[in-house]
Amino acid sequence: MKEGADRLHVLGPATVRGEVEVPGDKSISHRAILLGALAEGETVITNLSPGEDNARTTEALRAMGVGIARRGAEVVVQGVGLRGLKPPPGPMDCGNSGTAMRLLAGVLAGQPFSATLTGDAYLRRRPMKRIVDPLTRMGARIDGERGDDGEIRAPLLISGRPGGEALDAIDATSPVASAQVKSAVLLAGLYATGRTSVTEPGPSRDHTERMLRAFGAEVRVEGRRVTVTGGPRLQARPIEVPGDLSAAAFFLVAALVTEESEIRVPRVGINPTRTGILDILRAMGADIQVIDQGEVGGEPIADLVARTSRLTAVDVGGDLVVRAIDEFPILALAAARARGTTRIRDAAELRTKETDRIAAMVEELGKLGVRARALPEGMDIEGGAPLEGAQCHSHGDHRVAMSLAVAGLAAKGETVIEGAGMIATSFPGFVGKLEQVMVPRKISMRGSGGRDD
Ligand code: S3P
Repeated sequence: MKEGADRLHVLGPATVRGEVEVPGDKSISHRAILLGALAEGETVITNLSPGEDNARTTEALRAMGVGIARRGAEVVVQGVGLRGLKPPPGPMDCGNSGTAMRLLAGVLAGQPFSATLTGDAYLRRRPMKRIVDPLTRMGARIDGERGDDGEIRAPLLISGRPGGEALDAIDATSPVASAQVKSAVLLAGLYATGRTSVTEPGPSRDHTERMLRAFGAEVRVEGRRVTVTGGPRLQARPIEVPGDLSAAAFFLVAALVTEESEIRVPRVGINPTRTGILDILRAMGADIQVIDQGEVGGEPIADLVARTSRLTAVDVGGDLVVRAIDEFPILALAAARARGTTRIRDAAELRTKETDRIAAMVEELGKLGVRARALPEGMDIEGGAPLEGAQCHSHGDHRVAMSLAVAGLAAKGETVIEGAGMIATSFPGFVGKLEQVMVPRKISMRGSGGRDD
């Protein structure tokens, strides 16, 4: 395998066997760095995700005067306290990361200085009105690019109250079930007088609530409404980040859809707001075992084992979509290998991710011989057609690229994925890990300009 390459070649069919460790959870990693920075004292984080998305959060906080350093396998954050951030010397680049941008926006809303958040071409296309509206109601001023469609996009210039005056507590209702929106409001709520609440239409991931509590904030959860009390003193504490279920999903599905496969992924986070993928795959008949359950840092973990399975189509909609929101690219592949037509509904949010994941997966799986139909809020995927290797594209999306790499294992012949360097945003080393468990080992990165190994 070549270093620094952007085009991934996979030769199928292949099987996967063995054990594979996945990086620390991306969502939890963002929160660990951020809350560590706002806490008083030294927060030691183990198993922080090495992905570029998390590095963007780290860099932004460093630009605001927070000491963050690697110490062996750990990352140590020197907390500056809720009021200790400094004005950054210039715009902060969130790269491809929506989580970095939306969570940092919540924190910046409460600062006595102005700062600009920007990102790559993909992130600058994503909707920000969903956070601008509630943060503005709280008293922050946010200027972004206003589109003809009424949307607001990055770059965002965020100015809190002059002189560090507290924000106004609000009782927000989010139009979308989004942990990023919820977290932006809760983080701004730390800088508000009194109690700030946010209510959302579905069960988005609750890592912010769990970690805020662990750092000593007062957080109340009543159904879909979460309330935080402003002005807490956050106390540093050690955090162990569980393995990322959203990264593990690629290996689990790889085992399910290839012959004579078995894979084990140790110490993966199984927070119930994230395990929609396990529920959906099991409903499809997947042989997945959850064993050796435990807990780290207030988050449940387990080892996951998946074996070759005969899958059947399912209908997916409602809350299950929220609980599996990042897994639809790889789920689309599982559906393509199942008997019958899988119908995915209530999933319009997929069009607002790193790319439009409905359009991207329908187009790319189509190249491999899958009949799939895009709908405004979902897709229909006909399963059972044999997959044929083809020339594909990542659409600049790490999860699309990894899903196509797994499709390449199940397909006959060579699958080429252009733009595979984006994989490094969440999972540097993915290709090497897939190669390790792949039999026969026929995968390689070529080309130039990429960011994965
Ligand atoms: C994330 C929340 C989800 C998810 C994203 C990470 C987070 O986005 O898709 O990959 O860490 O809060 P939304 O909150 O916009 O649904």
